[in-house]
Amino acid sequence: MSNTLNKKCKIIAISNQKGGVGKTTTCVNLSAALAISGKKILLIDVDAQGNATTALGLEKNEQINSYDFINRDCSDYIQTNINNLFCIPSSNNLSALDVELSSKDQREYFLSNQINKIKNDFDYIFIDCPPSLSMITINVFVASDSILIPVQCEFYSLEGIAQLLETINAIKGNLNKKLHIEGIVMTMFDKRNILANNVLSNVKEHFGDYLYESVIPRNVRLSEAPSFGKPAIIYDVHCSGSKAYLSLAKEFLRSRK
Ligand SMILES: Nc1ncnc2c1ncn2[C@@H]1O[C@H](COP(=O)(O)OP(=O)(O)O)[C@@H](O)[C@H]1O
Ligand SMILES: [Mg+2]
Repeated sequence: MSNTLNKKCKIIAISNQKGGVGKTTTCVNLSAALAISGKKILLIDVDAQGNATTALGLEKNEQINSYDFINRDCSDYIQTNINNLFCIPSSNNLSALDVELSSKDQREYFLSNQINKIKNDFDYIFIDCPPSLSMITINVFVASDSILIPVQCEFYSLEGIAQLLETINAIKGNLNKKLHIEGIVMTMFDKRNILANNVLSNVKEHFGDYLYESVIPRNVRLSEAPSFGKPAIIYDVHCSGSKAYLSLAKEFLRSRK
């Protein structure tokens, strides 16, 4: 195992305030690709929907879950059936967490404090975010070194990115100076669709510095894989979606800041 003793763990939020843009698919497949390459990875699922949890063949509301991790000082994690890939699954209780945290002191720092206890066990920690700017998401942004933004190739994408960058700047100014953008990855790209091509060139023009060269195509295998409890790159390593995520993983490692 190529585990690296001296390298610091990097914590990456997978976030976009829009739902259905490929956050979870990116989080699961990028985590799995890096785990297969020998990195030790923890995926924390803080979306009450728990799609990342089920996509890894785990169940929501396990005894070890991200609600207890954030709110009850429990710092355990679960080994998935992929070598080097660990998970803190989602829990339905997460939907009440925002209200529970709102009355507490230092409420933005709960997740960060917990991650500090375990981060030395990993090379990378990926956090799959819900599609909202809730107190949970603020906890994630405070705990993270960087944010990786999946963007769907559609008309309103540019506005969405601009909005998220504003939020990141606000957090950077107040709560977490080190926070930066890890990169933007375009998802569900259909090369025959003229609009998708236009969106891609617009994002390149405005946010080119952040944009990964790897573009994730629309690929039905990526959407089938979760029902088998497997990341697509395990379910069908040869499909176009898996190849794109493997290429993204390489690019991610090359551009590590
Ligand atoms: N590149 C893709 N090609 C086809 N389907 C995809 C792709 N990426 C995601 N999906 C599917 O689209 C839906 C939303 O993706 P998901 O990753 O859950 O987005 P989010 O986490 O942002 O809500 C899911 O059903 C997922 O399987
Ligand atoms: Mg999701």
